[in-house]
Amino acid sequence: MANSKYEYVKCFEVEDEAMFPNIILVWIKASKLHKPHDSNTLKLMNSCAVEVLEEYADVVFAYGFSDEYTFVFKKTSKFHERRASKVLSIITSFFSSVFVRKWDEFFPHKELQCHPSLHGRVIACASIKALQAYLLWRQTICHLSNQHEQCLWRLVERGMNEKEAWDFIKGFEKSDLNNLLFDEFNVNYNTLEPILRQGSCVLKTTGEDTVKYTDNGAPIKRHRRKIVTVHSKKIASKRFWNEHTVLLKDLGGFVEEINNVTPEYVRSFEFDSKLMPCTWIVVRIDGCHFHRFSEIHEFVKPNDDRALNLMNLCAVAVLEKFWEDIVFAYGVSDEYSFILKKTTNLYQRRANTIISAIVSFFTSTYVMRWKDFFPQSELKYPPSFDGRAVCYPSTEILRDYLSWRQVDCHINNQYNSCFWKLVASGKSKREAQNSLKGGQLQKKIEELAIDYNKLPVMYRQGSSIYRDKVDNVLIHQENGESPENYGKVIVGHFDIIGPTFWLEHPNILDE
Ligand code: GTP
Ligand code: MG
Repeated sequence: MANSKYEYVKCFEVEDEAMFPNIILVWIKASKLHKPHDSNTLKLMNSCAVEVLEEYADVVFAYGFSDEYTFVFKKTSKFHERRASKVLSIITSFFSSVFVRKWDEFFPHKELQCHPSLHGRVIACASIKALQAYLLWRQTICHLSNQHEQCLWRLVERGMNEKEAWDFIKGFEKSDLNNLLFDEFNVNYNTLEPILRQGSCVLKTTGEDTVKYTDNGAPIKRHRRKIVTVHSKKIASKRFWNEHTVLLKDLGGFVEEINNVTPEYVRSFEFDSKLMPCTWIVVRIDGCHFHRFSEIHEFVKPNDDRALNLMNLCAVAVLEKFWEDIVFAYGVSDEYSFILKKTTNLYQRRANTIISAIVSFFTSTYVMRWKDFFPQSELKYPPSFDGRAVCYPSTEILRDYLSWRQVDCHINNQYNSCFWKLVASGKSKREAQNSLKGGQLQKKIEELAIDYNKLPVMYRQGSSIYRDKVDNVLIHQENGESPENYGKVIVGHFDIIGPTFWLEHPNILDE
């Protein structure tokens, strides 16, 4: 399809490929979502991790405890050509989707109150030795945090408030915590469930399944790749690794035992690059394989009001959650762009955290609110979105970015209107495609007698979301500052290429 003069904005997208021979890890955390070490939540987290391994063949190992999980990709993986933001966002989004879908299974009597938002980062492990160090580090943290939590929550149950309990055990060594548990609560730490002390590993193994029986009752077995969850004591040991041939094959073997992790390694594991200061940040999310998703869920072609309004609702929720940072959003089809103001310091402008938090919150809202828009159509599998963040140095270029997206909306909509009109008139999809090749869409619209301007404005111009500043000024003076009085969030369908909308709303991109 035709290129627009705004396409140059794509050159601001930066490469974030995790180069070979790095092993790609995706670490995600669901902080504040639940009380860590609640055994039902741990089982829910494990169940989500199993689905990640089932869905993505390249993810060969996962380790999780408390409210976090790490996914390890096989060393030869070309998953999304190793682009870090894409890999991270897809895994985080899928995990969030599954988390919401599975909630009822683990908490049948407790409604999921908030839209979960996970965040995470991609860790590039330069060698199998670095991976071994990473696993040792995380399992040590699992152990320490579990000891801490075990004491903390028992003190709270006994009557302290959380702060008092924190202060009480501040500075306690491992042995002090163990003694506290034993002396005060009669708990022998070493007898607590392994899922708590050691965390959970999800991995692929080959096992034998009985597929059927012969006439005389003998079992016929077949080798199958299985996904198992285990709670092993030393996941960074040669012994554990050597027991699992899949890990040896897909990731390599550990050369020697290690007992500690250097601070340099830990720094590299915690690294998350920051987006350039004083620039507009655009986070664009896009539905993964929505062509298939829309077919399976029987979206109306080419535009489904239910699907578009659900996308809009999720975007409004994102604007409300990040009300101090996101000033504008523009959406069309299965994508949404969120504009973070130049001065934002959201997550200290850490790229991974920003992308994963937004994509996760958007996805969980999409799944939670699906039934409001599709009451008759069950969600058949967990949808996921990918995300990226791009910095734009000036308002002019940011406006060109938005124009680029709106031109794209316009061209796609013209094309789709013609395409489906041709199909409705009896042409096959291939014939319709061929007849639109290379031709002027505007001409085709006239030929097909499509009254294009009568189509709903949402289809033609996409959706824009912003906060109504007029309300804000009035209420702000009376009540002080809070998200509720920061102006009502408005969804509208405007021409955002020309100057009129921006002249009428000078505050949105006000620097
Ligand atoms: P990736 O984004 O690369 O994973 O592929 P994708 O299949 O999601 O395609 P892309 O994002 O390029 O395009 C979005 C697709 O979603 C469209 O091509 C449509 O097939 C589908 N889609 C989005 N909105 C609607 C809608 O309102 N109605 C229908 N019928 N389909 C829609
Ligand atoms: Mg898509």
